[in-house]
Amino acid sequence: MQERETDLLVVGSGIAGCAAALAAARRGDEVTLATKASRPEDSTSYWAQGGVAVARGDPETFKQDILKAGAGAADPEAVDVLVSAADGAVRDVFVETLDVDFDGGSEPATQSRRASGYGDEAFDYGREAAHSEARILHVDASTGRHLLAPFLSHLADHDRVEILEDTAALELVTHEGRVHGAILERDGERAPCVAGATVLATGGVGSCYRRSTNPATATGDGIAMAALAGADVADMEYVQFHPTAFAGGEGGQGTFLLSEAVRGEGALLRNGDRERFMPDYHADAELAPRDVVARAVKQERERTGEVRLDVSSSEARRRSEELGSSGVSPLDFESEFPDLYAECERRGVDPADGIPVAPAEHFLCGGIDVDTEGRASLDRLFAAGECARTGVHGANRLASTSLLESLVWGLRAGEAAAGHDPEPVEAPDLLDRDPAMPDGFAEEKFVRLRRVMDDYVGIRRTPDDLRRAAGVLRRLKGEVDAYTRTRTSRSLYELRNAAVTALLVARAAAENDRSRGCHHLEEGATVDAD
Ligand code: SIN
Repeated sequence: MQERETDLLVVGSGIAGCAAALAAARRGDEVTLATKASRPEDSTSYWAQGGVAVARGDPETFKQDILKAGAGAADPEAVDVLVSAADGAVRDVFVETLDVDFDGGSEPATQSRRASGYGDEAFDYGREAAHSEARILHVDASTGRHLLAPFLSHLADHDRVEILEDTAALELVTHEGRVHGAILERDGERAPCVAGATVLATGGVGSCYRRSTNPATATGDGIAMAALAGADVADMEYVQFHPTAFAGGEGGQGTFLLSEAVRGEGALLRNGDRERFMPDYHADAELAPRDVVARAVKQERERTGEVRLDVSSSEARRRSEELGSSGVSPLDFESEFPDLYAECERRGVDPADGIPVAPAEHFLCGGIDVDTEGRASLDRLFAAGECARTGVHGANRLASTSLLESLVWGLRAGEAAAGHDPEPVEAPDLLDRDPAMPDGFAEEKFVRLRRVMDDYVGIRRTPDDLRRAAGVLRRLKGEVDAYTRTRTSRSLYELRNAAVTALLVARAAAENDRSRGCHHLEEGATVDAD
């Protein structure tokens, strides 16, 4: 692998990384986008279902919904940035640059949308939990892939962007507090990529839990690299669990997300006694905040053996008519959610019998601490997307704001990071003296790590469990560190990254005795804001 120089190094190929690359290339930078993915499917953005929330010309109402979901911990200035930029950024990139055909319009309507922007009724705006109005643009319920695939093709054709697939970043190159790129690895070979600035857009931490809606590539790489280089991280305790992933095996095998949009269209949650239980937990029932629904689903699974998503009963159809958000009421699961229907069929589940669901790790609200332009605490280091803590989500994220945040912060980070020339610097030489690893080492450690995170740092937490988890994870990280001193295999670095991020989550959770949003303490809390 060749040593290289570039104006901007972007690590990660989800919506945030693509947006950063686009913005910097528009400013005239030569951009290198390195991604360990070899297919778009390996990125969490590709898996996003619900859609992209927009303000529809009413940023204030959107802002209030985000602040409420964040349980008092979101940063109002960051939320202002998001809601003010939302309509323009979506129009610029998704509609005008990538020509994404969001659901809901005939060709003439699409033309008028292009001319008028948002606020008209031509789109089929979806509604999801804790949104006070229908404002979610979507393509079926598989929006992510319809955004990411054209974005990657657009960048692949861009003459100022080079995409390096199947290329992982192992360590940041730093010198006197400034970041100068990263050590990249492909096919077992390593070389520095020296950059004027670096944007991390590596996604979340799903691999730290057994059941997650993220792809297996979500090993916290950017967060771990940044933290190890000395960058600040924040809000790491706020790990969001989605209430309705396909239950799959107890080890999380075969799971997939059943979008909140399905409940937005009227689907109901029933326990093992076939009873609808959410009205007993919250006035907004199935559309209560995500953390409330996730805890209720967990509790009902424990109490009655299972929870199913009812997409076809007459009660669900009545609820669908009451909500009436899609204009396709009553709920018709097969035609409105064809990809989810197909996933159920693939697993031999007839949705008419109810779809077995369980909560799954979904999104990390915290991450690398950045300002409103994606700037981290180290010079020339930026972050965007799930690996960044922008302050937008506080203690809990409002549905369908992650693609939007990735887009807005990706663009802002790319713009702010552009215009720096690479400076010659000596990159660290990573040792690879003894490439042999004990058989099954990484797998065994991952199993242990996930067990600790599920059992002690999950949906319901106690101070004792969190302290215990931090201790176990510290020892586990020590065992992994002993190997990373002399070996550089990608799988070992992914394990190292997962161990570092898991430890950051556990420590932050153990240090925060205030129960709110998705950091839910069962005992020992000073305040419970739910
Ligand atoms: C979903 O489709 O339920 C997920 C949307 C999100 O997490 O924003």
